[in-house]
Amino acid sequence: MKVLVTGGCGYIGSHACVALAAAGHEPIVLDNFSNSNPKAVGRIEKLIGRSLVVYQGDIRDRLVLDCIFEQHRIGAVMHFAGLKAVGESVAKPLEYYDNNLSGTLNLLAAMRAAHIYRLIFSSSATVYGDPLTVPISETAQTGATTNPYGTSKHMVESCLRDFSAANPDWSITLLRYFNPIGAHPSGLIGEDPTGIPNNLMPFITQVAIGRRDTLSIFGNDYPTHDGTGVRDYIHVQDLVEGHVAALEERGNVSGLHVYNLGTGNGVSVLDMVAAMNKVLGRELPVRIEPRRAGDIAQCFAEVDKAEKELGWSANHDLMDMVEHSWNWQQRNPNGYQS
Ligand code: NAD
Ligand code: WQD
Repeated sequence: MKVLVTGGCGYIGSHACVALAAAGHEPIVLDNFSNSNPKAVGRIEKLIGRSLVVYQGDIRDRLVLDCIFEQHRIGAVMHFAGLKAVGESVAKPLEYYDNNLSGTLNLLAAMRAAHIYRLIFSSSATVYGDPLTVPISETAQTGATTNPYGTSKHMVESCLRDFSAANPDWSITLLRYFNPIGAHPSGLIGEDPTGIPNNLMPFITQVAIGRRDTLSIFGNDYPTHDGTGVRDYIHVQDLVEGHVAALEERGNVSGLHVYNLGTGNGVSVLDMVAAMNKVLGRELPVRIEPRRAGDIAQCFAEVDKAEKELGWSANHDLMDMVEHSWNWQQRNPNGYQS
């Protein structure tokens, strides 16, 4: 099946293109390259063994969407395109709501006009806010978001829920990612953040490669096993396999489907540093700093539903994630610019 992959040259989208091709589907990419490098196209092509159809354009541009849907018999859309930096969203709420919410509504309208009724949406555990209990189930309360990014994701989920109720013949799947890290084992594609990384793993690998001096550990006084923040890190390969499973198991089932994509395991910052030190064979320079505003103590997934209904579960362990992240960084010290 031809699958439109919006944001298909980004961190997760690029891995999804490879996983789709491996499963016998044909990814068609739409990306405005606002947070990715066109060099990713050649890397993806190397991994899928054929050329990749890429449209440079914006999900907010109805004409480019109509053109793609006229040119290709698209069977489904995997929608990764969006802005995702929590801190940036506080400073630029308009850009985040325009991109993430208006962009998705524009995409939905174009899909409806083209009679394309399968959508898989990149949602986020951030819609759960600060959870009352962990592990977090799909039935947990959502909406207590604390930044425009998380609110934009929750708004899109609400729009898709209402749209699904009014259009029961559509198959719409919300995949709530926890903390994706890692890279394709080849080291050809990976996470290539612009500027100073917000997220833990790319910051760790940039310290390890010598691009950053020291890792700041934001708080060691949380109510966790070692005082540092605990998250559910999931290998990006497992994450995109979850997308293929959702397409194949729910793509022909109408209605709205919601799944957590995580491992169900909580890993602390110090656990992550220890794993990286083991891979490196040396100690990373770290410094304990005050808590980061907006951070929560613990967040990890209940993963039974995806396992039961999609026949999917994460199978890479923490060492795989750290090794593959480091392999990508070593082969690409400056990301795709290397
Ligand atoms: P990314 O920034 O690497 O990839 C997003 C891609 O979308 C980029 O290639 C960017 O150029 C493109 N893009 C952005 N706005 C666009 C627009 N208006 N039109 C066309 N292309 C556009 O991010 P990612 O980490 O791959 O995340 C992909 C999706 O998953 C995002 O929606 C993000 O919110 C979601 N998500 C990511 C994480 C994470 O930790 N990485 C966690 C939960 C959810
Ligand atoms: C993980 C842990 C930090 C950096 C974010 C977004 C979320 C989603 C995933 C999009 C925390 C600690 C981090 C550093 C540190 N993105 N940390 N030093 O905050 O769980 O989630 O990315 O959907 O919406 O909020 O991920 O990697 O930033 O932080 O100590 O330099 O590492 O305090 O405990 P987070 P993260």
